[in-house]
Amino acid sequence: MDRFDDYELFKTKFFNLSFIDLNLYKEKQMKRRITSLVEKYGFTTYCAFLEEIKVNKELYNTFINYLTINVSEFYRNPNQWDLFEKKIIPEIAKHKNNLSEVKIWSSACSTGDEPYTVVMILNKFLPLEKISILATDIDNEAMLKAKTGIYPSRSLKELPKEYLDKHFTKISDDVYQLSEKVRKCVQFKQLNLLREPYPKGMDIILCRNVLIYFTEEAKDYIFMEFSKSLAKNGVLFIGSTEQIMNYQKFEFKPIDTFFYQKI
Ligand SMILES: C[S@@+](CC[C@H](N)C(=O)[O-])C[C@H]1O[C@@H](n2cnc3c(N)ncnc32)[C@H](O)[C@@H]1O
Repeated sequence: MDRFDDYELFKTKFFNLSFIDLNLYKEKQMKRRITSLVEKYGFTTYCAFLEEIKVNKELYNTFINYLTINVSEFYRNPNQWDLFEKKIIPEIAKHKNNLSEVKIWSSACSTGDEPYTVVMILNKFLPLEKISILATDIDNEAMLKAKTGIYPSRSLKELPKEYLDKHFTKISDDVYQLSEKVRKCVQFKQLNLLREPYPKGMDIILCRNVLIYFTEEAKDYIFMEFSKSLAKNGVLFIGSTEQIMNYQKFEFKPIDTFFYQKI
């Protein structure tokens, strides 16, 4: 095989190994990323790299980790969270007798910064014992980090001080740990959005800063599945650089920038 002309074959073999379909991720961006990692480890074809990750669990995990781009932070894009607290929670509360019954799903939760942010905001309305949130991601390693609740201070730079003071303990110079009480409010579970069944009856779904990596076809599939997953009047919360052009097709109506409601 000539140097790096086996990407198509690699995608098929990688799918068989991991059930991750690289065809559903934007090709140029993904291929550039993969090539740079494969080269870094000294392989000259994608398939040679694939043979190695089949037997080398550590490199397999490194690769998944690298592919999935886990960048996240608490209270990322503060204006979105402000709207979430002041407009979306009250909107959802209108349709529910009891806020503690609201079903919330953070669908690409990475290292947990996002679902934990939801817990801290909800805690303004409810005691922690009554809060339970589902958080999923394709990347198990990221969720293992989430469960430890240990974060560098750069992950917390946008977090309002009141939350930092209330829910975190400084454990060393640049490292903080989130309280166990908050951690207990989130149930982490592995879920590939492009492949596995979605939970049902959700009132709020967060899907932020992951859609940017997907093809239009994959995004359409995901929006359709989110639409089926949401209860009537449920809300989908997307990232600050994302929008849904053909929202009517999925029975959504925009209720604010970044927020769509199931009709
Ligand atoms: C950039 S992070 C976003 C984290 C968080 N939502 C935020 O906005 O800060 C993107 C996450 O999407 C996850 N991801 C990528 N492909 C996925 C898939 N097919 N199913 C579920 N999660 C996926 C990655 O593992 C990664 O943790």
